[in-house]
Amino acid sequence: MSEKWRTSVELLERARRSLAGGVSSPFRAKAPVPLYFRHGCGSHLIDEDGNEYIDYALAWGPAILGHCYPKLVDALAEQARRPVAYGAQHRLEIEVAERFQAAVPCAERLIFTSSGSEAVQCAWRLARAFTGRNRIVKFEGHYHGWFDSVLISYKPPADRVGPLEAPNAVLESRGQVPNSVDNVIVLPWNRSDLLEKTFKQRGEEIAAVIMEPVLCNSGCLMPAPGYLEAARDITRRYGALLIFDEVITGFRIAPGGAQAHFGVTPDLATFGKAAGGGMPLSVIAGRQDILDLLYTGGVAYGGSFNGNPVSLTGAKVALEELTRDGGALLEHANRIGRTLMSGIATAAQEAGIDLAVCGFGAAFAIHFTKKAALVDYRDTLEDDRARLATFIRLALEEGLYLLPDGRFYVSVVHTEQDADDTLQAIRRIFGRMAA
Ligand SMILES: Cc1ncc(COP(=O)(O)O)c(C=O)c1O
Repeated sequence: MSEKWRTSVELLERARRSLAGGVSSPFRAKAPVPLYFRHGCGSHLIDEDGNEYIDYALAWGPAILGHCYPKLVDALAEQARRPVAYGAQHRLEIEVAERFQAAVPCAERLIFTSSGSEAVQCAWRLARAFTGRNRIVKFEGHYHGWFDSVLISYKPPADRVGPLEAPNAVLESRGQVPNSVDNVIVLPWNRSDLLEKTFKQRGEEIAAVIMEPVLCNSGCLMPAPGYLEAARDITRRYGALLIFDEVITGFRIAPGGAQAHFGVTPDLATFGKAAGGGMPLSVIAGRQDILDLLYTGGVAYGGSFNGNPVSLTGAKVALEELTRDGGALLEHANRIGRTLMSGIATAAQEAGIDLAVCGFGAAFAIHFTKKAALVDYRDTLEDDRARLATFIRLALEEGLYLLPDGRFYVSVVHTEQDADDTLQAIRRIFGRMAA
């Protein structure tokens, strides 16, 4: 391993003697070197060896305001002089809920929880209780957290996916409750004909359809024109709920999430990551008649940290910043992201490298593939992952920190200069890869 990351390597060795695996999430162990960071500011991070990076990982999404955003720092410092938890009511809950409601179309009512996984768990429970049905339709390649009931067919290997028209429901973890798969129908995404057919055959069993409205967890694939509308129409006709998992798209593609951006309002939506401005926070938002079941319909949920003032301080600052001036800050992040997307595509073309760049600006991903169009998870199975690993490694050497799956997140504080520096670095990387 290069001398460049020597301290991180040493710290990882030390960490492994106390912390299982040396990291706090196995996803983080996938980086070429699990880096240890000591600081960050704006769009930049500094590791324990003193290397500086332009950060495109943004803590896997939450750091939409970049690092040490002054208003957030001040608000948190102020909050730290007051109780960090009440386990009871306080004004900030109402203030944040009202801001959220004003921004997000489906949010007639909402609740606060702490992680995206929990939020999805709650949404599925609500959907089952509301409809009196059991099965949930989920799509291959979509990630909705790591809980037993939902961690199904996230990254099924090519030899286990099964037929396109009736994919296998594949458990992703040893130790998972095996019959979780009995409650889920897995389909390929972006195929409204297959969704319609499934409802025609089994509509009375289906409580809800859940999806990432942009498939961020499998390479930032966009919904086909009309697909979200079709899913809305089909679920409505068959009395099932439509759930958008906006843990990534929320407060990133637009202040009102994908539902505002695409103009399709789901019955329920889950939020996390950017919603807390970097603090642990998730939200389940949706129709009042569904959310009310948590108080009057016998549907259980809980959480010691729900609505804690620290997370809500993060959310208050994030929502204020991301919604002001018609969402100008997110428009900036998305514009910088689009500049990167087109610049990277051009650089690949010039270097003679087969590459697809997918996404919407503030979240996008690169695919080393000959495929011109990627529509759903199965298309990504042909990506050249060894080439991606090489790219990620060279990017790290060049001072670009991105997610191990080739995803880039762009914050509201990334600059034109960051974009220029990044594109220059990427041209050098492609030059080396082509050679
Ligand atoms: C779309 C989506 N849903 C749910 C989750 C789970 O959120 P958390 O990691 O906060 O449990 C994630 C996490 O990456 C996600 O991307």
